Amino acid sequence: MSPRRVVVVGSSGAVGRELLALLAARGVPPDRVVALRRRAADGAVPLDGFPFAPDDLALFCAGAEVSRREVPRALAAGARVIDLSSAFRRDETVPLVVPEVNGDALDGADRLVAGPNCTATLLCVALAPLERAFGLERVVVATYQAVSGAGARAIDELRRQTRAALDDAPLRPEVFPEPIAFNVFSHESALDPATGRNDEEEKVIRETRRLLGRPDLPIACTCMRVPVERAHTEAVDVTLRRPASEDEVRAVLGAAPGISLVDDRAAARFPTPRLAGGRDDVLVGRIRRSTGDPAGIQLVVCGDQLRKGAATNALAIMDRWPPAAPPADAPGPPA
Ligand SMILES: NC(=O)c1ccc[n+]([C@@H]2O[C@H](COP(=O)([O-])OP(=O)(O)OC[C@H]3O[C@@H](n4cnc5c(N)ncnc54)[C@H](OP(=O)(O)O)[C@@H]3O)[C@@H](O)[C@H]2O)c1
Repeated sequence: MSPRRVVVVGSSGAVGRELLALLAARGVPPDRVVALRRRAADGAVPLDGFPFAPDDLALFCAGAEVSRREVPRALAAGARVIDLSSAFRRDETVPLVVPEVNGDALDGADRLVAGPNCTATLLCVALAPLERAFGLERVVVATYQAVSGAGARAIDELRRQTRAALDDAPLRPEVFPEPIAFNVFSHESALDPATGRNDEEEKVIRETRRLLGRPDLPIACTCMRVPVERAHTEAVDVTLRRPASEDEVRAVLGAAPGISLVDDRAAARFPTPRLAGGRDDVLVGRIRRSTGDPAGIQLVVCGDQLRKGAATNALAIMDRWPPAAPPADAPGPPA
């Protein structure tokens, strides 16, 4: 679709800033981009009372609470919406889409599409080709998640604390529950006391199943926060339905959309957040057979979750989303 205006809701945030940069890099004229945030500042206007219009495409990245309140207002005004928060991801009537994984779910009749959790998005870009080629029996994933996944303030916190730590000064956590500088801890999202899983792990499991169309796929997930500024890393261990050699797996992943292989054993060159940062693809490497499981394959996935896990995915949805069908009684094209 090519909307009249692209409205970025949450333009000053970690994701919003990426969206503005990507739109500018595509050459979208500035007068067709509207930046909205809490208050007027830095060229952005306040979201409160903003008059959305038909033919607007609104990209929401201001958190679930804002989306729950404001997305219905944008839809009522006739806008189309891509929501990057978790507000609508569990609503089965709202497509949850990563175009190279389940782009067929995009329908011109829909007015609202959800972008998935960033960790699930990166994971599914790597898992979808394996599911198509060999089938997946089970997935085990451990994540090493960058602080920018928790927003712009978390980036500031890592930088501030790193300087303080080097100066032997107190670290004073504000965004995270414990110091992030020179530390690693379980993802800070709410922990379910009954299951022991945190909310991020639940999202990865639920959304990966939905994106792959495999509601019963066994998935074990451990989400950790690491002192990296941007790009999440994921160590993935899969059991395939049809056992495959390393080379077969490498060929399938190397040919898959959205993936670049970084898998040079001789040079010990594999995916890292520094390589993945600022890129629109997902890096995959360290592909190897696991021991004791003839159908087991291990790999490392690394992707810029602000780009591929959020902003790039939103623009890919925009590109692939068919235009709305004309009303049934609209005149057809001339014969
Ligand atoms: N960070 C990621 O890697 C990532 C990836 C995928 C999805 N997401 C989702 O994207 C959303 C944004 O994440 P983020 O990391 O970009 O957060 P962030 O850096 O904290 O930015 C939040 C943005 O929302 C705006 N905002 C907050 N409350 C508002 C309100 N009441 N009215 C208007 N604007 C308001 C802020 O504006 P002010 O600056 O004016 O306060 C800011 O522009 C979240 O739902 C998150 O789950 C994030």
